[in-house]
Amino acid sequence: MNEPLVTLREVLGPADAQGYAVGAFTMCNAETADAIMAAAAEDNSPVIVMLGPKEEPVFGLPNTVQIVSTLARNYHIPVCLHLDHSRDPAQVQAALAAGFPSVMIDYSARPDEENIQVTRSIVELARKTGATVEAEIGYVGFPEATTEADNNGSIRSESHLTDPAAAEHFAHVTGVDALAISIGTAHGRSPGLPMLDFDRLAEIHRRVAVPLVLHGATGRDPDQVRQVVQLGIRKVNVATDLARAFADTMAEALEAGEGFFWHAEALVRVKQRWAAVVHRWIETLGSNDRLVDITSRL
Ligand code: 13P
Repeated sequence: MNEPLVTLREVLGPADAQGYAVGAFTMCNAETADAIMAAAAEDNSPVIVMLGPKEEPVFGLPNTVQIVSTLARNYHIPVCLHLDHSRDPAQVQAALAAGFPSVMIDYSARPDEENIQVTRSIVELARKTGATVEAEIGYVGFPEATTEADNNGSIRSESHLTDPAAAEHFAHVTGVDALAISIGTAHGRSPGLPMLDFDRLAEIHRRVAVPLVLHGATGRDPDQVRQVVQLGIRKVNVATDLARAFADTMAEALEAGEGFFWHAEALVRVKQRWAAVVHRWIETLGSNDRLVDITSRL
């Protein structure tokens, strides 16, 4: 394993024991990774840095491992680098070979049996490098991607709430290290259901031993997020909040410069906004000053 990169188990185990959640933030370049880690280091918070399917082409997998390892070493913090939402076993294999300590295989849009089979094979593969695996049961939709198709099925817009019994069975037979569930959020700019399904979450938490993951966190009321953390959510995924900070900063810079801006100045500004987003989430999730939970065990 590439020090100082750590697995989901090392980050979420203590969170589960102590009852807080860890933010998982989507990076798209070195600047995002730097802003995320700078904020986490300042707050003494554990952090998960994710690379998703849209972000992977920016640097590729090996460069991402190098960038995140170097930054983590410079900030003296352990970081969980996690491949998010991979729908391609070959990509997962490449990520593990490149040194990713954690991956998500996402066959949640496929029938449960296929989801189980593929996830189980990825868990077996990941055990060989000591990496951890997240998968999803139920389905958290991607509302603005209704026409996009990937190489093993459509990315659907509508969410399916997770059935607690199906989640219990899935976690048991696959051996995943963390389980993403659908309780009313949606990815992207759509807020999903107005109220999250707290009863469903409580029931899933009663039945499933591994840490639970909330996708589509952008736009949720912080009080609802605090409540789901109390009920057992241990990893909270945030992407659109960071993308929005970038888009807003660039739009403002363009407007102020009457159609032109100096890239470096805009990037410095957007890094401050990204860090502010991360600080806000760390406070909501209660992970500040919890870094010691991990470092004391390393
Ligand atoms: P948002 O884009 O809604 O923050 O969701 C991110 C996510 O779940 C990535 O896996």
